[in-house]
Amino acid sequence: MSEPSHLSQIRTAYDVVADDYAALLADALAASLFDRAVLGAFAELVLADGGGPVGHLGCGPGRVTAHLASLGLAAFGVDLSPGMVAVARRTYPHLRFDQGSISDLAIADGVLAGAAAWYSIIHTPPSLQPSVFASFIGSSARPATWCWRSRSVTTNGAIWGWRTGTTSTSMPGD
Ligand SMILES: C[S@@+](CC[C@H](N)C(=O)[O-])C[C@H]1O[C@@H](n2cnc3c(N)ncnc32)[C@H](O)[C@@H]1O
Repeated sequence: MSEPSHLSQIRTAYDVVADDYAALLADALAASLFDRAVLGAFAELVLADGGGPVGHLGCGPGRVTAHLASLGLAAFGVDLSPGMVAVARRTYPHLRFDQGSISDLAIADGVLAGAAAWYSIIHTPPSLQPSVFASFIGSSARPATWCWRSRSVTTNGAIWGWRTGTTSTSMPGD
């Protein structure tokens, strides 16, 4: 069966811009107190729950994967774009990066202690997002923690959210 057309379009687009994207955002986390605060809280929640593998789903060049690893998480990245995966492996050779789709994760149910989707679900059509989120939860070890960062389809403003245990939060961002 052929894959949905939006996946091949995303793959092609990010393959083309992988090196430029990595250069453009190389220092973005250092400049964003808000992003570091959300990711720091996410890391604390995962570690407080015992830690374990954390998937950065739609990892791009791996900058956020590396940040999560620096916070003590056993973080690895997954991305649709081989170009992005190549940049991530080259930049962070000590970390693991796999090629794959967040809509069809090759991660067994019950493996992840946490999942972070940082500006990656923005490319998933809204009608398919519930199944992607269900897949994140299915790949989690326990009442797991996951966080996401995106843009509102109605206001185009930044939004973020997370779920830990049975608690879900989503809010406007910066
Ligand atoms: C805006 S970039 C964000 C990259 C990274 N999370 C960051 O913040 O630097 C979006 C990334 O999501 C990836 N992506 C989009 N849809 C995906 C999917 N269905 N499966 C895996 N990766 C996907 C793209 O290839 C791209 O690398």
